[in-house]
Amino acid sequence: MSTKTKYPIGILGATGMVGQRYIQLLENHPWFEVQWLAASDRSSGKSYGEAAKWRLDTPLPERIAKMTVAPADPKDAPKIVFASVDAAIAREMEPLFAEAGCAVLSNSSAFRMTLNVPLVIPEVNADHLHMIEEQPTRKQSGGYMVTNPNCSTIGLVLALKAIEERFGIEQIFVSTMQAVSGAGYPGVPSMDILGNVVPYIGSEEEKMEAETLKLLGKLEGHGVTPLKARITAHCNRVAVEDGHTECVSIKLAKPATHDEILAAWAEFKPLVGKDLPTAPEQPVQYAPQPDRPQPRLDRNRGNGMAVTVGRLRPCNLLDWKFVALSHNTVRGAAGATILNAELLASLGKL
Ligand SMILES: NC(=O)c1ccc[n+]([C@@H]2O[C@H](COP(=O)([O-])OP(=O)(O)OC[C@H]3O[C@@H](n4cnc5c(N)ncnc54)[C@H](OP(=O)(O)O)[C@@H]3O)[C@@H](O)[C@H]2O)c1
Repeated sequence: MSTKTKYPIGILGATGMVGQRYIQLLENHPWFEVQWLAASDRSSGKSYGEAAKWRLDTPLPERIAKMTVAPADPKDAPKIVFASVDAAIAREMEPLFAEAGCAVLSNSSAFRMTLNVPLVIPEVNADHLHMIEEQPTRKQSGGYMVTNPNCSTIGLVLALKAIEERFGIEQIFVSTMQAVSGAGYPGVPSMDILGNVVPYIGSEEEKMEAETLKLLGKLEGHGVTPLKARITAHCNRVAVEDGHTECVSIKLAKPATHDEILAAWAEFKPLVGKDLPTAPEQPVQYAPQPDRPQPRLDRNRGNGMAVTVGRLRPCNLLDWKFVALSHNTVRGAAGATILNAELLASLGKL
């Protein structure tokens, strides 16, 4: 695809943590080009460089720094909008963009569990995208909404998918250690998190439990029948900058050996041959060292799009236990939306 034919992309919530990641990941994207940036009234009218407190370790692209932040109004937006605003704002705004004919690819939790809104990880449930055809706006203006999961859910579900397919999963226990960047900027006050662990993230456990079962569920009729498994999540905030770590125990429907689970992960490459630019070659990577994965050492595998699993061993309560790690603002947010957009483009739906 030549530069001239790149899809123009708008970012709603462009100045935030996830908004900044979109800008970083899209800088040299072969298919997409950022053409519209919107945020709150506090930012609109200013140059992006002035409005955003750039927090990433690559330079803010000059072209983007000079762009003016637009008001969050669909009338000037391009037809593809990546949205990363708080759920309460998303609930009001995202439908307005879909009504105006935009493909809205959202990071917020506002519509993830809505009946005809797909909640998608391309490697896991690409077929659920069909639900966009059920959305009234699709027929009226062409617009629709697609969501990606919560940042802690994505790592868990990628690690579970290959196991679920081969052996079935009946029970899931997960306890997370989630990075501070997951709370946006400025997020958790340093006085609360330094030298500390906060054993509470509002609504996170409920989101993880519900989203996991929808993602691993089956598209049937007009919606998704969730996976019939029992799941419990404990979510904790820890003093890590980026990268969510999760300790997972699972009970399987059919017995599996250690080697069979490793093989399921190694052979899990559902996007091979689709040539999606952001898709990692090996979405689930096993780290054999006894003290891995670790956020600082493993979060950037597959350009931040791979999940690293490790410490697979028998569990005395359920069948198997392991540790999973994923980059929360790349695989868990901006990268997830971009990969969903690439999949939609490859299906001719953008
Ligand atoms: N951080 C993560 O790891 C992560 C992962 C997955 C999902 N998410 C979800 O993604 C969304 C954004 O998260 P974040 O971490 O990027 O948050 P954030 O850093 O707080 O950024 C919020 C963004 O929303 C904009 N905004 C606020 N009020 C607005 C309004 N009335 N109209 C338009 N824009 C408005 C802000 O603009 P101003 O700068 O002008 O205030 C900013 O650009 C949330 O729903 C979050 O739950 C985050």
